[in-house]
Amino acid sequence: MTAPGPSAQDARPVGARRLALPDPAATRALGARLGALLRPGDCVALSGDLGAGKSELARAAIRARLGDPRLEVPSPTFTLVQTYEAADLEIWHVDLYRLERPEDVLELGVEEALAEAALLVEWPDRLGPDLPAARLDLRLEAGPGDGRTALIGDPAGAWADRLETLAPGADGP
Ligand SMILES: Nc1ncnc2c1ncn2[C@@H]1O[C@H](COP(=O)(O)OP(=O)(O)OP(=O)(O)O)[C@@H](O)[C@H]1O
Ligand SMILES: [Mg+2]
Repeated sequence: MTAPGPSAQDARPVGARRLALPDPAATRALGARLGALLRPGDCVALSGDLGAGKSELARAAIRARLGDPRLEVPSPTFTLVQTYEAADLEIWHVDLYRLERPEDVLELGVEEALAEAALLVEWPDRLGPDLPAARLDLRLEAGPGDGRTALIGDPAGAWADRLETLAPGADGP
């Protein structure tokens, strides 16, 4: 396995909105708004260090969209992919941390899934050049204090009409 080099994981989304997430409840609230806004073909690149809160945010998004606050949403760390059926949308929760070879991502069916599902991807840098340009970048960084800061980028404008709902009042670019 080749070590991942400098990548999207290290990069801050360009022109990102900045949203303070002082506690886990704030992360879950952002996740719930994200879940409500998801559309077929969306790819959400959830980046940030180990323990940043990516799975917590994805879990809240899935629970909100499926309307089941107690739904079990295990981290896909070992399965790599977990899929969920909302009434009008299939959601793929993907964690590529343990992806051994970049080629293996094809076997997961991620590209086909993008045609009609919405993807929430942890460790999206593992997709390399296959990371869709039309995506939402959602990076979680530590601080201030024990909290987190979300950096939200929309590199291709796919979320232009949804950003204000997703991150109301967030600092602009
Ligand atoms: N805004 C926040 N402030 C403080 N703690 C938070 C915040 N959001 C999430 N957390 C906590 O951070 C931890 C993050 O766990 P989580 O499994 O979601 O991280 P992760 O980014 O998915 O890590 P991994 O890369 O290992 O999958 C949880 O204990 C969660 O409660
Ligand atoms: Mg995780």
